[in-house]
Amino acid sequence: MRRLSFLISSLLFSSLSISSHAKLLTDPKQIGKDYDFVVVGAGTAGNVIANRLTENPKWKVLVVEAGISNDGLELISTPYFAPTASPNKPWTWNYTTTPQVALGNRTLNYERGKLLGGSSSINYMIYTRGSSEYWDSIAKYSGDSGWSWKTIYPYFKKLETFTPPADHHDTSKQFEPSVHGFNGPLGVSLPGYPNEISGRIINTTNADPTTFPFNLDGNSGNQLGISWLQASINDTVRSSSATAYLAPKYISRPNLDVLIEQQVTKILFSKAGRTSPHATGIQFSAGPSSPSFTVSPSKEVILSGGTVGSTQLLLLSGIGPSSELSSLKIPVVLSNPQVGQNLVDHPALANHFFANSGNTLDDLKRNATDLELAEEQYNNTGTGVLVDTVSPAIAFLRLPSNDSVFRQFPDTASGPNSPHYEFVWRDGWASFLPITAPTTGNYTTITQVVVAPASRGTITLNSSSPWDSPLIDPAFLTNEYDIILSRFAIKSARAFMNATSWAGFNLGLAPDAAVAQTDDEIDDFVRSNTVPIYHPIGTNRIQGVGKGETGVVDSKLLVKGVTGLRVVDASVFPFIVAGHPEATIYALAERTSDVIKQTWA
Ligand SMILES: Cc1cc2nc3c(=O)[nH]c(=O)nc-3n(C[C@H](O)[C@H](O)[C@H](O)COP(=O)(O)OP(=O)(O)OC[C@H]3O[C@@H](n4cnc5c(N)ncnc54)[C@H](O)[C@@H]3O)c2cc1C
Ligand SMILES: *[C@@H]1O[C@H](CO)[C@@H](O)[C@H](O)[C@H]1NC(C)=O
Ligand SMILES: *[C@@H]1O[C@H](CO)[C@@H](O)[C@H](O)[C@H]1NC(C)=O
Ligand SMILES: *[C@@H]1O[C@H](CO)[C@@H](O)[C@H](O)[C@H]1NC(C)=O
Ligand SMILES: *[C@@H]1O[C@H](CO)[C@@H](O)[C@H](O)[C@H]1NC(C)=O
Ligand SMILES: *[C@@H]1O[C@H](CO)[C@@H](O)[C@H](O)[C@H]1NC(C)=O
Ligand SMILES: *[C@@H]1O[C@H](CO)[C@@H](O)[C@H](O)[C@H]1NC(C)=O
Ligand SMILES: *[C@@H]1O[C@H](CO)[C@@H](O)[C@H](O)[C@H]1NC(C)=O
Ligand SMILES: *[C@@H]1O[C@H](CO)[C@@H](O)[C@H](O)[C@H]1NC(C)=O
Ligand SMILES: *[C@@H]1O[C@H](CO)[C@@H](O)[C@H](O)[C@H]1NC(C)=O
Ligand SMILES: *[C@@H]1O[C@H](CO)[C@@H](O)[C@H](O)[C@H]1NC(C)=O
Repeated sequence: MRRLSFLISSLLFSSLSISSHAKLLTDPKQIGKDYDFVVVGAGTAGNVIANRLTENPKWKVLVVEAGISNDGLELISTPYFAPTASPNKPWTWNYTTTPQVALGNRTLNYERGKLLGGSSSINYMIYTRGSSEYWDSIAKYSGDSGWSWKTIYPYFKKLETFTPPADHHDTSKQFEPSVHGFNGPLGVSLPGYPNEISGRIINTTNADPTTFPFNLDGNSGNQLGISWLQASINDTVRSSSATAYLAPKYISRPNLDVLIEQQVTKILFSKAGRTSPHATGIQFSAGPSSPSFTVSPSKEVILSGGTVGSTQLLLLSGIGPSSELSSLKIPVVLSNPQVGQNLVDHPALANHFFANSGNTLDDLKRNATDLELAEEQYNNTGTGVLVDTVSPAIAFLRLPSNDSVFRQFPDTASGPNSPHYEFVWRDGWASFLPITAPTTGNYTTITQVVVAPASRGTITLNSSSPWDSPLIDPAFLTNEYDIILSRFAIKSARAFMNATSWAGFNLGLAPDAAVAQTDDEIDDFVRSNTVPIYHPIGTNRIQGVGKGETGVVDSKLLVKGVTGLRVVDASVFPFIVAGHPEATIYALAERTSDVIKQTWA
């Protein structure tokens, strides 16, 4: 049986590989000369741009990606394996942060995907659009109503196909169909395997609807409350920007070329006959001792290298703080002290509880036989525990508006109907560094995230070589406010697990968490256990219209002070979404594709 299924799946895989490899190029000599647009990075945003611009058969687009193909990688495609798709894989960048001063100088792995699909190929697939207030705040800040919820909402519908969950259960009380799309490239779905904690989570919303209200669909623009988790999954497999926007029918377009395993090392500028520097093209290479090539599009260079990649590339190319560039002997093309500033990321932390159950997912991590059985079931029937990602549900919650923290600090939420913190659950121990999973015991985890943090960090160059990592400093918890919010969320998680729906199931705090009782102990626990969930944004942010506001790109995402250069990825957001950013990046790129089409119409 296994042999047969292996045969079938390898046949399937090889035919898939042939079709989707059809237009993937690895040899720079295979590329053309007459591109209209060159996109740097085949990641979450980059593939949207490449797909939408090549809808116009007259435009030729080249995408240059540093990483490898996503094809046939089981750890990438199987939802359950998402947390093991990183770190230190042949398809990751392997960054680490600088020592985090508010976390006892710990340095942290800082995951980024280096393959087709970028980080959408290695992320946890949690799919959240943010609140309508979030988008309206960007519209207000940028003075561009094109970023309002009203304008963005149709793009959310356009980009997705809401698909039935793998087990085809009744989902009528689990999402609101009218706010979803059913004809877009990206698959979005609900959990597809029954889970022993889901019922208890939902029952808690019935028991205490004031503190923990149920929300039928947190992606409606009305985000607050506890909802069933929506994830970028098509039936049983990950839906990434590569599987969705570079699907065989798109990548086979004669006007789209995707060159992989080539890193862009520089944006080229010329000032000849112009008032400001013009991006004439890019330079790229397979490695420090490989030859360099250049390519020059007739219309635009579009940077979609992600918050780390695009920022590093702008700096390497001479756009950034002139003192930083000069100290590394990089010729200054355009001085802009904002490049690399305003880095925002979400601090996360796992709350572990003992579970009175022998059916948690802990066993799957410890018993290779059981994991193999689950894999066999998944391979043969597309069912079972491997069809789902990290959590069955998601909560977006607020501190009460009279909380004392707001007497000391301004409220960072996008508005009165937007959250401060988040929960996701795991029916088992959720391994987050620095705590590795214990070898015995059965657990429930609430991972909490401060989704509206006040701390701000930086990305700067460590050297003038494109082959060296930049210095990434998310500055986690450097603003005391974020510690106070973390402390509140910990107490809230404990109160949640104290509800009657968990009676007999929750056997109390696991030893790692139980050490934190007083506020001081909780704060120490926060500093020792906070980790990233890899949502960096903001280092090339959109310019604000308010007095004294600065930025890197205008509201059409064109780099200020130069021509022919746009940035389309997470780095342009002026504020962080209170949630997980992939959906917001897809929508940003969808709308910007239309802006580009209008510009060149
Ligand atoms: C482990 C992990 C879990 C996450 N979980 C979630 C989640 O559950 N839900 C969610 O919404 N978000 C999640 N995120 C965040 C989300 O995936 C990212 O915010 C998003 O994918 C970033 O999109 P992007 O287009 O800005 O950049 P990316 O998708 O990272 O794309 C950048 C691309 O550019 C390429 N590139 C960079 N520099 C160069 C260069 N110089 N030359 C050529 N190519 C280059 C990269 O290799 C990459 O392919 C997670 C992220 C990680 C890492
Ligand atoms: C990351 O680590 C893996 C495993 O060691 C390696 O294969 C890969 O090349 C590394 N990536 C980078 C960008 O160095
Ligand atoms: C962290 O490093 C900084 C700078 O090196 C140092 O001043 C500080 O004392 C260190 N903090 C801890 C907790 O070790
Ligand atoms: C989902 O997968 C099926 C089977 O591979 C495919 O036909 C379909 O186009 C995919 N849909 C989306 C939205 O990805
Ligand atoms: C949730 O509540 C319903 C109604 O009270 C009950 O039938 C069900 O058993 C509960 N589920 C769990 C998992 O406790
Ligand atoms: C955990 O569950 C297993 C069954 O898988 C059971 O044998 C064991 O006693 C449980 N352990 C605890 C600490 O509850
Ligand atoms: C692992 O799971 C298998 C199948 O369920 C079971 O037979 C075996 O006893 C388990 N091994 C251990 C060490 O628990
Ligand atoms: C399941 O399929 C994958 C290929 O997608 C293969 O690598 C793996 O070994 C298979 N597992 C089992 C248990 O059959
Ligand atoms: C906030 O208001 C609630 C009632 O609305 C009250 O019970 C609580 O004590 C107040 N908290 C503070 C810190 O004032
Ligand atoms: C920065 O460069 C120094 C000197 O070359 C090196 O020791 C250090 O590891 C680099 N830091 C990072 C984060 O790469
Ligand atoms: C949990 O419930 C018990 C009994 O009702 C109460 O004494 C305790 O304070 C509660 N703990 C939390 C964190 O809510």
